[in-house]
Amino acid sequence: MTNSETKATLSFSDGSPSLEMPIYKGSIGPDVIDIRKLYGATGKFTYDPGFMSTAACNSSITYIDGDKGELLYRGYPIEQLAVNGGDFLETCYLLLNGELPNAAQKEEFVSTVTKHTMVHEQMQFFFRGFRRDAHPMSVLVGTVGALSSFYHDSLDINDPHHREVSAIRLIAKMPTLVAMAYKYSIGQPFVYPRNDLSYSANFMHMMFSTPCEEYKVNEVLVRALDRILILHADHEQNASTSTVRLAGSSGANPFACIAAGIACLWGPAHGGANEAALSMLEEIGSVDNITHFISQVKDKNSGVKLMGFGHRVYKNYDPRAKLMRETCYEVLQELGLQDDPLFKLAMALEKIALEDEYFVSRKLYPNVDFYSGIVQRALGIPTALFTGIFALARTVGWIAQWKEMISDPEQKIGRPRQLFVGAAKRDVVAIDKR
Ligand code: ACO
Repeated sequence: MTNSETKATLSFSDGSPSLEMPIYKGSIGPDVIDIRKLYGATGKFTYDPGFMSTAACNSSITYIDGDKGELLYRGYPIEQLAVNGGDFLETCYLLLNGELPNAAQKEEFVSTVTKHTMVHEQMQFFFRGFRRDAHPMSVLVGTVGALSSFYHDSLDINDPHHREVSAIRLIAKMPTLVAMAYKYSIGQPFVYPRNDLSYSANFMHMMFSTPCEEYKVNEVLVRALDRILILHADHEQNASTSTVRLAGSSGANPFACIAAGIACLWGPAHGGANEAALSMLEEIGSVDNITHFISQVKDKNSGVKLMGFGHRVYKNYDPRAKLMRETCYEVLQELGLQDDPLFKLAMALEKIALEDEYFVSRKLYPNVDFYSGIVQRALGIPTALFTGIFALARTVGWIAQWKEMISDPEQKIGRPRQLFVGAAKRDVVAIDKR
C-alpha cells in the first residue's frame, strides 16, 4: 500500500472523540481514506450499500476514469490495445503479467495456453446431466465449478506455480466449455479443439464445425470475436470481479471462485445486459416506435430501462461502446448485412437518447453491451450464449484479480458489516401462546 502523506480528521457531533485517518494516493484516480481503525476507535461502522464510495482493495491491473470515459489495462488505453495491441492472448498476458509480451514470451504463452484447451473426457458427462434447454450460464456455473474435481494438481492456492497453472487452464478451457454448452443445447456432437488455430478461430471452429462440415475461418469475423474478448477482458472491481475476490478471500480454489463470478455475471444488470439489449431492440422493432419506447423508459412506474445504457462508473461514453459500434459496422459489411434493421434501429435509438434531457442530465451513455449483441448475433452466436461469451472473455480478468489478491499481504477474508434494523433480543414464546 502507498505510504500516507496526508491525514483526514473525522469529528463527531455526538461527543465521540475525533479520529485521524491516513489518506493514500493512487498512481491515478481518487485518494482513499483508510478507515480500518474506525470501528476499533469509535465503535461505528461506515454504511455504503453498493460500494458507492468504498475501495475494497488496492490493484494495479485496470483503471477506469468514468468522467473521461477512459479504460486502461495496465496503463494501456483500451483503444490502443483493441486496434494495435495484437490479439486477445496478448491482452491476457498483459493482464496476468503486467507487461505486454515480446515475441518469444508471446510464443511461449500461446503455446502453453494452446496445450491446455482440451477438457477431461469425463466432463462431457456433466453436460449430459443438464436438460437440453438449460441456460448456458447455468451449465457454465456447474461445469467451471466442476473443474476443481478434475485438476487436483493445481488447487494449492499458496503455491505460485499451482496458481499459474490454474490460470492457464481456466483461460484455455473456457472456450471449450462455452462451445460444449452450445453444442449440447442444439443436439450436435461436441467438437474437440484444434491447436493449429488461433484462440478465437479455434472457438469459432468448436462452435460451428460439425463432423460433416468443417468451419471455414473468416478473418474479419475472427477479429471481431477477438475484439469482443479484448473489450470484455477486465473492468476493475465490478460486481462479478468483486464476487471472485470475495469467494477467493476465504481460500476457495480458483475454479470455484470463477464459477461464483459467472453466477454474478449472469444478472441482467451486469453481463446479462447484452442479451437484454438485443431483446429490447427486437421488441421496439422499428424506428417509428422509438418515441413511445423512450417515453416508457422515462416513466418510473413502467419498470422499463434502456438496456445497454448507463453505467455505475462511466458518466461519459463507454470507450468500449465506440469500438464495438465500429466492429458492428465491419462485421455487417463483411456479411453483406449493412442494411441490418436492428443496427439502424440501435443507431437511431442512441442518437435520440443522447439528445434527450432525461439521459443527458443523468449522464447515461451507451455501454459496451449496446452494440455487442448485434455483433454476436451476426457472428452466429445465439442470444442465450451472449453472457457465456462475456464470461469467457472476463475469465482472464477474474483470474488476474484473484492472483493479485492472493499475493497481496494486506489480503483478509472479506467480511462486510451491517446496520442491523431487525428485532432486538427477545424471548421465544411457546407455539400455543403465539
Ligand atoms: N434506462 C433508464 N434509466 C436509467 C438507466 C437506463 N438504462 N440507467 C440508469 N437510469 C436512471 C435511474 O433510474 C436513475 O434515475 P433517478 O436518478 O431519476 O432515480 C439514474 O439513472 C441513476 O441510475 P442508478 O440506477 O442509480 O445507477 P447505477 O449506477 O446504480 O446503475 C446500471 C448502473 C445498473 C448499469 C444501470 O445504468 C442499468 O440498469 N443499466 C441498464 C443495464 C445495463 O446496460 N447494464 C450493463 C452494465 S455494463 C456491464 O455490465 C458490462
